Amino acid sequence: VKHHAVMPVPIPLATENASPLEWSEPQIRELVEQATTLMVDAQKNLDTALPTEPEPPWQELVRPPQECATSAGPLLELFARAANSSYDHRAPGFLGYVPSSGLATSAIAKMIASTFNCFTGVPDHAPALVRMEHALMRWVCELFGLPPTAIGTMTSGTSMATLIVVVTARQHRLGDHFAQGTAYVTAHTHQCVAKALRIAGLPPGAVRTVSTDDEGRMDPDAAVKLITADRRAGKQPFLLAATAGTTNTGSIDPLPELAALADTEQLWLHVDAAYGGGFQLTQRGRTRMNGIERADSIALDPSKSWFLPFGTGVLLVRDAATLHHTFAERHDYMTDLDKYAEVPSYTDLGPELSREYRALQLWLPFHLHGIAAFRDTLNTMLDLAQHAHHRLTAIPHLRTGPPPQLSIITFRLRDGTDQDNRDLLRRINRTGQAYLSGSVIDNRYTLRLVLLNHRLHRDHLDQTLNTIAATCGPPRAP
Ligand SMILES: Cc1ncc(COP(=O)(O)O)c(C=O)c1O
Repeated sequence: VKHHAVMPVPIPLATENASPLEWSEPQIRELVEQATTLMVDAQKNLDTALPTEPEPPWQELVRPPQECATSAGPLLELFARAANSSYDHRAPGFLGYVPSSGLATSAIAKMIASTFNCFTGVPDHAPALVRMEHALMRWVCELFGLPPTAIGTMTSGTSMATLIVVVTARQHRLGDHFAQGTAYVTAHTHQCVAKALRIAGLPPGAVRTVSTDDEGRMDPDAAVKLITADRRAGKQPFLLAATAGTTNTGSIDPLPELAALADTEQLWLHVDAAYGGGFQLTQRGRTRMNGIERADSIALDPSKSWFLPFGTGVLLVRDAATLHHTFAERHDYMTDLDKYAEVPSYTDLGPELSREYRALQLWLPFHLHGIAAFRDTLNTMLDLAQHAHHRLTAIPHLRTGPPPQLSIITFRLRDGTDQDNRDLLRRINRTGQAYLSGSVIDNRYTLRLVLLNHRLHRDHLDQTLNTIAATCGPPRAP
């Protein structure tokens, strides 16, 4: 709480001495109103994931900023045309990659948080906000069954969370001499793990690929053999990177077995739950991700399975002290800070000092909609995935992958080359009804359907499944 000896003199918005950057209240209000119209309109017309603006005005988009002011209307319109020339991840027909459906209430939270622009890198200047964030992150830790020593921090996404984990695990397990360090992944592990290892200075040979079972899950016995052979060769195994919901198929590594292995081998167990983690709100998700509570760290991505816009990742670490030992740094200009020992100093838990207050993007929607709304939507995704798998399996031309562990369904042509499957993907995407993506799974090009959008309903999905059924027959003669 701020105490002023004398009441400060109120400062009106924009007097005649004002900088041209200081806008008057009517100016700000008008821009907010224009932005509101733009943002509300942007929630409509999501019937295709394909670009709706075929010819954005390239010359105007790349024109350098001018000396003189330009009015807001044409600028916002220009932005909207550029945005509308993009693939729309918010559309219920966007079923490719791992979508981010961009919950509007979270986008609005972002605008509000940056309007207040409070400094939350350390607690001193915004203790209430840091306390809110810490309480929310502790709630997420408890959701995942982590102990009271655990802490959470918000990141820009899972690639950044993974980088923080890799540096922490490296520091904690290997200290400053890590040239012989090795980390264990599978062919289905997301590329962000290898990338983080490279950024963290580990040599290329540090990434060790363990084989998987028929459903793409890490084989713990194969991991033990590889780790044992590596130790004999003088390597220092330090990190076991499991995945709860792989990008390719949504499969979940055998977490209890991998946790036991990490214990025996003294490895840091990281679980990449970027896609799967959100499903922890559901009973089915919790059952399938059983064992995740034994992880040393978990990355989850609210911009994926909690439907938020891009830019909101969460990293949970079992022992807060490990993050602190890795990242805490105080130079002279910071020594008067840190008076709130009972809440974290987020700058000590990762690379950022100045940071966005991302917590509002999670806090506001969780409170506004209630947790049950998220759980119901995730359960709908799980149900729709079963339905889609069932319907695709009944199409004679297609061979589907195993029943979905979460909400990703894979399929390919029963008879067809990789090129035929690529052509099928192109034909489906050209319809505008749905946008899918493919991947190479078990050396064969495979199409994926990822159901992860709060705007996706059974009728959209059925239309998409009809489109796939109609498109996957032999191509018609031109
Ligand atoms: C399993 C998994 N891990 C990590 C990532 C990387 O996340 P981000 O794009 O937030 O960096 C993704 C992205 O789709 C993912 O699916």
